Amino acid sequence: MDTEIYYFSGTGNSLFVARELQKRIPDSKLVPIVNLLDKPRIKAEGKAIGIVFPCYALTLPVAVKRFVKKLDVQSADYIFTAVTRLGTVFRGLKTLDRLLAQKKKKLDAHFVVNMCNNEGPRSEIAYEVPTKARIQQVESAVIAYLDNISPIIRKREAFRGKDDSYTISCSPNPVKNLLIEKLVVFGMNLSEYVGGVNYFYHDEKCNGCGICEKVCLSGKIRVAGRQAVWQKNTFCYMCYACLNFCPQQSVQVGSIPGVASHTAENGRYPHPYATVKDIASQKSGS
Ligand SMILES: Cc1cc2nc3c(=O)[nH]c(=O)nc-3n(C[C@H](O)[C@H](O)[C@H](O)COP(=O)(O)O)c2cc1C
Ligand code: SF4
Ligand code: SF4
Repeated sequence: MDTEIYYFSGTGNSLFVARELQKRIPDSKLVPIVNLLDKPRIKAEGKAIGIVFPCYALTLPVAVKRFVKKLDVQSADYIFTAVTRLGTVFRGLKTLDRLLAQKKKKLDAHFVVNMCNNEGPRSEIAYEVPTKARIQQVESAVIAYLDNISPIIRKREAFRGKDDSYTISCSPNPVKNLLIEKLVVFGMNLSEYVGGVNYFYHDEKCNGCGICEKVCLSGKIRVAGRQAVWQKNTFCYMCYACLNFCPQQSVQVGSIPGVASHTAENGRYPHPYATVKDIASQKSGS
């Protein structure tokens, strides 16, 4: 296999991008990241390696950082990443560069793909589910973008475009915004060392259907006594699959002092082509 495309996807955006890239890159295969994370070392075999994942809190998801740390990339002479996101700036590049430099490799190409939102963390902002028209408009833009970048990948060219997307702007003071930005990234990185987050719960609409347990990428959810239970000691990858795939919209995020959650009134967004099976199968590697 010439190109391996590794992917991590909570609501299907990154899966969509990974699949579309695979169609455009000859002799390539998709490899889910989640079921590899228990291994002490992950040996890549491709001559080219791609990693497709979402931007979380302006940086890499903890699961993806752990994956890159364990990845043996000696087979590869070309490495690229494609980050899907709502549209903020991505600050994880330095981390990726540092992790690959430790392996005496470099990130040759880096792409960002703006997509529809999958319900941001805590949803402190009133959230509107994207309309069908908006989803179609974004899909056309994504397809056009992938058509543009796939020749770069096929020819194994370098690409590090300037990322001038918006960043935190909750204050008129740019210094304060910069500090908040650093705090957000720090919080995400810290979560790796403090056992992750424990802020999900289900409301009275839960009927014990078990879908959240199926899609939970980290295995944190167990359905017992017809109720979903988030296991306190299992790490949460913050993929938001439980929240977005629950057919009853029963999964909620709890409020914390100063940050009110609006998930009870906000809508849900799983990628239109992503099924429960698609998300769950990342755990079995198929
Ligand atoms: C915990 C969390 C944090 C997020 N943080 C950001 C962010 O900082 N910037 C951004 O543009 N999008 C952010 N998003 C949106 C996702 O990056 C985006 O919806 C992505 O395409 C989801 O990919 P997936 O469907 O493959 O999981 C966040 C989503 C989640 C669940
Ligand atoms: S998916 Fe929703 S309804 Fe089904 S068990 Fe989980 S929380 Fe309950
Ligand atoms: S608990 Fe929810 S957000 Fe956390 S890993 Fe499981 S599905 Fe993802």
